[in-house]
Amino acid sequence: MTEATTRPVTLPLTRERPFDPPDALGLWRDEDPIRPLAYPDGHQGWLVTGYAAARAILADPRFSTRIELLHTPLPQRAMQFRNTLRRPGFFLRLDPPDHTRYRRLLAGQFTVRRMKGLEPRIEEITRDHLDAMERAGAPTDLVRAFALPIPSLVICELLGVPYADREKFQRDSAVLLSLNSSVEQIEAAMNDLLDYLDDLVRRKRAEPDDDLVSGLATETDLTDEELAGVTTLLLIAGHETTANMLGLGTFALLRNPEQLAAVRDNPEAADHAVEELLRYLTVIHIGPLRAALEDVEIDGRLIRAGESVTISVAAANRDPERFPEPDQLDVARPASGHLTFGHGIHQCLGQQLARTEMRIAYPALLRRFPGLRLAVPAEEVPMRTDMAIYGVHRLPVTW
Ligand code: HEM
Repeated sequence: MTEATTRPVTLPLTRERPFDPPDALGLWRDEDPIRPLAYPDGHQGWLVTGYAAARAILADPRFSTRIELLHTPLPQRAMQFRNTLRRPGFFLRLDPPDHTRYRRLLAGQFTVRRMKGLEPRIEEITRDHLDAMERAGAPTDLVRAFALPIPSLVICELLGVPYADREKFQRDSAVLLSLNSSVEQIEAAMNDLLDYLDDLVRRKRAEPDDDLVSGLATETDLTDEELAGVTTLLLIAGHETTANMLGLGTFALLRNPEQLAAVRDNPEAADHAVEELLRYLTVIHIGPLRAALEDVEIDGRLIRAGESVTISVAAANRDPERFPEPDQLDVARPASGHLTFGHGIHQCLGQQLARTEMRIAYPALLRRFPGLRLAVPAEEVPMRTDMAIYGVHRLPVTW
């Protein structure tokens, strides 16, 4: 530990290259994987960039995700933290035993049978979107034509949310995930979404169907308010994240033609490729965030009770001590163990669904359009450094 590594830093958000985390994070990780971080509200907490420390903290019950204990490293979103996300049903921001209750109820609905049953639908949805792209002709924006609608439609069918209403929730969740939204915009978007889902929950209670929200409504003791909160969390988490993996992942493959050919020509390779793209691209732009419930010593650093910790899984997934040649995209490498879905009790509930969507969608796209290429210079692709989930705003392609 040197004087340089005890001086608090602020969190960098801009990236020098589209597929790599900010350079400073890698430099800091190599110097000291846990270092002091200055939070915009004056709090002094920690930034974790090393793989081992990140994984240890995510698995440690002495760290909380409760919203009222967290400080945010982002100035614009300070208020949202205190107010908007403090809703019944947002179990990502609860600790055990409250979290355990929700997680158990959800596990009863995210069954292997239900996930397996979705596979043929995901294939069909993917085919339909490729057909529509073909009919409309090149060039097109791959985000609008493919990357966003597929996960959006899948999560709608899983939850029983009418896809015809997508403009509303896609717009609301874009506001919620933008780092530039004002507190008023965030409050308005959240209320709009909750009102909409409140209605939906009432309809499902009255006329249950085969979907997940109906299952939760009829088989659990969740109140309407809790159920609307759970559905909001699933709807936001379920389409933006996978959508950005599809958009950014395709961009990365187009910039790495040998890797692209491996995914296109060998269906067996898709599983490995998906894990490596998840590791290499780490669309979780910021976080996860935690707060220490008691004094904890990790790697010789004392994190005191009440201090906030910002974990950069993007930096951790590029830790050379865990992944050799971490800055290379190598779809043949064993990349499992990455932290893109988090780790510990909050590890992503939708990860198998997300994997299935990617395993089906990438090869299907690349085989349908073997000549797929960017329709603009790579430097002109607008990157989502302004969003909590990283990716591309648009991906103009031709074939
Ligand atoms: C590539 C796609 C995805 C990525 C990268 C991703 C990433 C993550 C991460 C990092 C966490 C943990 C956050 C933390 O510990 O603070 C998480 C939790 C969660 N994810 Fe995902 N996710 C993805 C797709 C999905 C999908 C498709 C769904 C829904 C069907 C979903 C639902 C959830 C839920 C409900 C949680 C909260 C779990 C809990 O607190 O117990 N995610 N996700």
